[in-house]
Amino acid sequence: MATLWHGRFEGGSAEALQALNDSLGFDRRMFREDLAGSRAHVRMLARVGLMSVVDSEAVLVALDTVEVEMSDGSFAFAVGDEDIHTAVERRVTELAGDAGARLHTGRSRNDQVATDLRLWTLRELGEVAELVTAFQGTLASRADGAAEAYLPGYTHLQQAQPVLLAHHLLAHGWALARDVDRLLDARTRADVSPLGAGALAGSSLPLDPDSVAADLGFAARFENSMDAVGDRDFVAESLFVLALLGVHLSRIGEELVLWSSEEFGFVHLDDAFSTGSSMLPQKKNPDVAELARGKAGRLIGHLTGFMATLKGLPMAYNKDLQEDKEPLFDAFDTIRLTLSALDGMVATLEFRTDRMADAADSPYAAAVDLAEYLVVGGTPFRDAHAVVGALVRAALAGEGSLVDLVTADERLGPDAAALLARGAPVLRRTTPGGAGPGPVAVQRIRFADRLAAQSKRIAG
Ligand code: ARG
Repeated sequence: MATLWHGRFEGGSAEALQALNDSLGFDRRMFREDLAGSRAHVRMLARVGLMSVVDSEAVLVALDTVEVEMSDGSFAFAVGDEDIHTAVERRVTELAGDAGARLHTGRSRNDQVATDLRLWTLRELGEVAELVTAFQGTLASRADGAAEAYLPGYTHLQQAQPVLLAHHLLAHGWALARDVDRLLDARTRADVSPLGAGALAGSSLPLDPDSVAADLGFAARFENSMDAVGDRDFVAESLFVLALLGVHLSRIGEELVLWSSEEFGFVHLDDAFSTGSSMLPQKKNPDVAELARGKAGRLIGHLTGFMATLKGLPMAYNKDLQEDKEPLFDAFDTIRLTLSALDGMVATLEFRTDRMADAADSPYAAAVDLAEYLVVGGTPFRDAHAVVGALVRAALAGEGSLVDLVTADERLGPDAAALLARGAPVLRRTTPGGAGPGPVAVQRIRFADRLAAQSKRIAG
């Protein structure tokens, strides 16, 4: 099998070199993008007169045949097909002869692979943004269904103040909204065509990279041919955005692990989204939530691994860059799997709002409300904090229930004690963006608006 560089070489390639060097095993997944790039390139060659119309049409027909063969699995890969670009060009030349041999005019695999991977990434970023939006929709509808249910809000995983369940669910929704922003920002920066940069320096031929960029639907062409082929910021940035999204999913996963435990008992998982134990008949395990937690490690690994690959690379293209695809593909695959499973788990789980309310109804959860009662009466907050702190200490020491101690205290009294009633504290979280029913009603609307705006941006 002749290599792409057989003119310059006397001998063939060693098997070990091929095994290390070949990327077909993973880059064949970009065949549609490779074909799109080749079509745009051929049309440009014809426009600028570097290829006859007859030849360009023969190549376009051959590219269509390759598309059919690759789609239906009948494409016969050859031993020398080192990567998807080689395979396509080899087959086009078999099919279109001399016209096919003109396909690579003014083009290098360096600008070709950068183009393919950008096209692939652009689509994936948009599709993952859609999946995240769908999951946010699930969180929003579970928040709507949760009405005024409340649970303890935690800091340091210690009960702090009661919050509406809707507020808690939407807290995750807003983190995901920033992920969508980042996915779409990354898409904007990735939206630059490298095709026409050649190996690194452009060409002596009258190529027209602007029209190629427009043909492929890119927003712009490269400004600098070396940057065009040497840049993988869009890969690193995508890996970061996916890693942070994965981190957000891991936090949701961790909470579901806790909430589904006997000790918390805040949720019942649907059978379809939990697993059993091979040994312990009573077990129902939250594997989806655990994997959402675990997959973040893999995503962070892809980011740091690829950053290490990029570090210190001299301009312009280096074969090290071939290491971009496997982590990128795996990161997108991983996030898609995780998102859809976690979405299903959240959509189907049952909230045990009675357990949540019981846990949230400790009178100590309203301690700050007592201090704020004193503040309204003119006491400086620091002093109020000390007064209530002393009562809490006395209650914990067994000197009486907090309600009784508050009722008996002349600075506080029965009005203040009423603040400790079951379900009362969460009603008093009234400030903008706060955890009570008033601000949460506003928040639900703002969140729905945000989702609508997001969807528009994804489509645009
Ligand atoms: N398979 C290569 C990659 O993924 C394509 C570019 C090869 N370029 C080269 N000059 N050998 O990066």
